[in-house]
Amino acid sequence: MLTIDKEIIQKFDVAGPRYTSYPTAPEWTNALTKATYEDKLRIFGQSLTPLSLYVHIPFCRSLCYFCACNVLIRPNDEKYGDEYLGYLFKEMDLVAQSMGGRKKIKQMHWGGGTPTYLSEAQLERLFKKITASFDLDPRAEIAVEIDPRTIDRNKLEKLRSLGFNRVSMGIQDFDEAVQKEVNRIQPFEKVQAFYQWCRELGFRSINFDLIYGLPNQTPDQFASTVEKVIDLRPDRIALYSFAYVPWIKKQQRKLLFENLPTNSQKLDIFLQARRLFLEHGYEAIAMDHFALREDELARAFEQGHLYRNFMGYTVRPADEFVGLGLSSISFVEKTFIQNYKTIHEYYDSLKRNELPVERGKELTVDDQIRQWTIDRLMCRFEVKKREFKTEFGCEFDQYFAEEQSHIAYCLAEGLIETSHDYCRVTDFGKLFVRNICMGFDWYLRQGKTSRRFSQTV
Ligand SMILES: C[S@@+](CC[C@H](N)C(=O)[O-])C[C@H]1O[C@@H](n2cnc3c(N)ncnc32)[C@H](O)[C@@H]1O
Ligand code: SF4
Repeated sequence: MLTIDKEIIQKFDVAGPRYTSYPTAPEWTNALTKATYEDKLRIFGQSLTPLSLYVHIPFCRSLCYFCACNVLIRPNDEKYGDEYLGYLFKEMDLVAQSMGGRKKIKQMHWGGGTPTYLSEAQLERLFKKITASFDLDPRAEIAVEIDPRTIDRNKLEKLRSLGFNRVSMGIQDFDEAVQKEVNRIQPFEKVQAFYQWCRELGFRSINFDLIYGLPNQTPDQFASTVEKVIDLRPDRIALYSFAYVPWIKKQQRKLLFENLPTNSQKLDIFLQARRLFLEHGYEAIAMDHFALREDELARAFEQGHLYRNFMGYTVRPADEFVGLGLSSISFVEKTFIQNYKTIHEYYDSLKRNELPVERGKELTVDDQIRQWTIDRLMCRFEVKKREFKTEFGCEFDQYFAEEQSHIAYCLAEGLIETSHDYCRVTDFGKLFVRNICMGFDWYLRQGKTSRRFSQTV
């Protein structure tokens, strides 16, 4: 197994973005207005680009203490979902109106929170509202995030019959001691049964979310979770590094700091899990994902056609997407837009018949060039310099003249290798790809990003 010195880990273990977007969210401001979003939607509506739609359902029945998502904890009562759907439908009307004409959806993802917090009737109403507002491509990827604790066979059958063909389920860790510590008791047998139903009903590309770095985890303990996962054989696995940000997510303060693995233990847990997945027919996809060799995600990664957005990795370019619901993010016409994150602001804005825009960022040309570069490094572990020139009409090394010292540093540390043709992340560098990208982040270099990110290890 690859082992890495503690000193090396210390060196690279800094606070840094995960680069699900560039510019990163702290750079977005409320200078971006609802009028700008309307304008962007109108231009997007006139283009031939199909729609990738994200729908956020923020509710969960109980709070997992590690959670860094935008969630609202509510008891199991349809009234919360009914109220929310009322506003969500209004937002959908406003978005469809601004776009003018019906857009074709080629990719849809419901996330949260927990979409399956909604009842079967509510899920159906929401789906029908979407198909009444947009054209759903019959070949569309339609995915839903499911907390196995909130699903029964009937609800799963309902989702399948509506047209969902992909499932992503939150697992995190099968160990009872870890589950207890993070307030998420989720028996293995329940997951096993649910997984079987998904297979029987013909869901494709089934994904498991796991987290390493949680309290009480050790390499051996987590290896037994990984072995259980390997036995079930989901098509895809997202193995997330625990983003510990207690200054932002107060519930994480309930986790005892002394129970968290140290950064070197955390890396050992990851490397052990990675080795097991690789030995059992999975391929490592970009930073923290794995897919069965025969899965289209693995093939896309090999062939250099992998894409990434807030919904995760995908085989289809999702250059533009619209997010509906509390805190949702859209990227339309080179502009990030984020909805309000508090439910009363979100509802109030819609009561006034206004798009619930809180903040955003219109990308400058420099932002676009860096976004492309960071995306290539994160998704493909490589920038082809000729492709860069074709895309932007300038030489990579000239454009990144100020970054040459960072590039030299990464070379000296063995994180990358370069030639006239490429700048490529090494196998060792893949473990620290966030650190490599940080050198291309203009805002970070200016010290402009004020809020602290999670650690890169
Ligand atoms: C919206 S949840 C998935 C659906 C459902 N709510 C559930 O938990 O089963 C998205 C995923 O984000 C990951 N996640 C949440 N908080 C995290 C954190 N602090 N660090 C790393 N991953 C986290 C978890 O793996 C979780 O499954
Ligand atoms: S991990 Fe999933 S179920 Fe747990 S609080 Fe977060 S969104 Fe809800």
